[in-house]
Amino acid sequence: MKLIYPMQTAPIAADVPKARKVYFEVFGCQMNKLDAELMLEGLLQKGYHLVHDPEEAGVILYNTCSVRERAEERALMRMASFKRRKKEEPDLILGLTGCVAQHKQDELTEKAPWIDLVVGTREFDRLPELIAEARGSREALLATEMDSPLEFFRQRNLGPNQWHAFVSVMRGCDMVCTYCIVPTTRGKEVSRPPEVILDEVRRLADSGVREITFLGQTVNSYGKRLGAGVGLDTLLRGVEEIDGIERCHFITSHPRFLRPKLIQAMAECSKVMDYLHLPVQSGSDDVLARMKRTYDRSFYLHVIDRLREQIPDITLATDFIVGFPGETEAEFETSLSLIDEVGFDHGYVFQYSPRPGTASADRMLDDIPLEVKKKRNHLLLESLTNQGGIRNQRFVGRQVEVLAEGPSKSNAERWSGRARDHRTVIWDAQADEIAGSFVVVEVDHVSAATLYGNRVAGPRSRPILPCTP
Ligand code: SAH
Ligand code: SF4
Ligand code: F3S
Repeated sequence: MKLIYPMQTAPIAADVPKARKVYFEVFGCQMNKLDAELMLEGLLQKGYHLVHDPEEAGVILYNTCSVRERAEERALMRMASFKRRKKEEPDLILGLTGCVAQHKQDELTEKAPWIDLVVGTREFDRLPELIAEARGSREALLATEMDSPLEFFRQRNLGPNQWHAFVSVMRGCDMVCTYCIVPTTRGKEVSRPPEVILDEVRRLADSGVREITFLGQTVNSYGKRLGAGVGLDTLLRGVEEIDGIERCHFITSHPRFLRPKLIQAMAECSKVMDYLHLPVQSGSDDVLARMKRTYDRSFYLHVIDRLREQIPDITLATDFIVGFPGETEAEFETSLSLIDEVGFDHGYVFQYSPRPGTASADRMLDDIPLEVKKKRNHLLLESLTNQGGIRNQRFVGRQVEVLAEGPSKSNAERWSGRARDHRTVIWDAQADEIAGSFVVVEVDHVSAATLYGNRVAGPRSRPILPCTP
């Protein structure tokens, strides 16, 4: 995933110097997108402006991802393409932020001496001052402390949609999944106090945000070390009371922490979307043990049963990794059978990528050939897509509430938006469509991932159909 900022910026006056113009590209997960927005907010406050064209910019920033080798390589290659310009324009500031910056640190400044700034995942609140410091320095500047008390007073939403905002509830991850670099790049789990988070949500609601996505690497373990009784359910119930916010959901959940109290809050809070992303990674107990996921297949199935007892129609998404070290054909097939057993609406499949510094890369052989990884990837995806298509059929004839996003990318005569369960919905546009409004669409046909139909109510500024429950 690559995202190029800016999103919502005013026209730039002709006399703004190049040194004040920033170009920013973002790779990686939603957390990285939100971090980029927070960095931008800090830069805008200090008089920087955002530009679309790197040629116009005096500061070029890349917020990077380490989760798989390809993501890391792509960002570094893009950065290297500015090497020549840096020679011609010594004042140009090239900055690498995010997970690769945190993970590679001084290795980067040795291998890529044209980089001026390496800013990790817990010090980016200092970005404006670091840029100023880098201007006066011949040496590359490193800001990669892990115990910095990163905290923002966020005033506004700089995301692509004014009616949707990400809100970070925690940073870091305390798990030790053997394949995963995230605990190294993001550090230990730290939860933000609930009142700080809910204040931020209130400010966002006042600025026009209608849908919130709470973010955390194991978002449902939120509240650890905050004292008895504080959990993600506290936040869901808090959002219920905030006027203006109509929908909320949270990513990414870990099966281990999907506890009854949270499921109950999900079932009872009308604003919580009918959608859960619960990565399983594998259907095999042996692979899950080698991954140190802390649960087995039957635990995962048990959690899903408990969830569906309370929220029968919930939309379920998951992640799988194929080609983990030593994954036999029989182990792989248990992932296929898990898909049949659970019934997922959507899923992502990743080919195992050894990340230096993780337990699996250091102690296990990456012994599954690329061709086999590709084949397994294809088979799982095919199964998930078929299942998604079949499960989508239940929506034909139903009326679903949609938060309208804008014209469909493939056909401007249609509009696109998201249902309450995060499914994409497409309908024939009428003259009065408004982005960020609620409409009701009667579904007449479906594909594997999308619902299609006609608008039968709306647009309105508030939800139209009664929220369940
Ligand atoms: N915190 C989330 C996921 C973070 S990474 C969670 O625990 O679920 C997002 C996804 O990338 C993971 O769910 C996993 O499927 C995949 N992933 C992580 N490390 C990987 C690696 N080394 N190779 C391939 N896929 C990986
Ligand atoms: Fe990585 Fe596991 Fe933490 Fe998710 S829970 S971020 S996969 S270590
Ligand atoms: Fe990538 Fe870092 Fe997110 S490694 S997936 S950007 S936490």
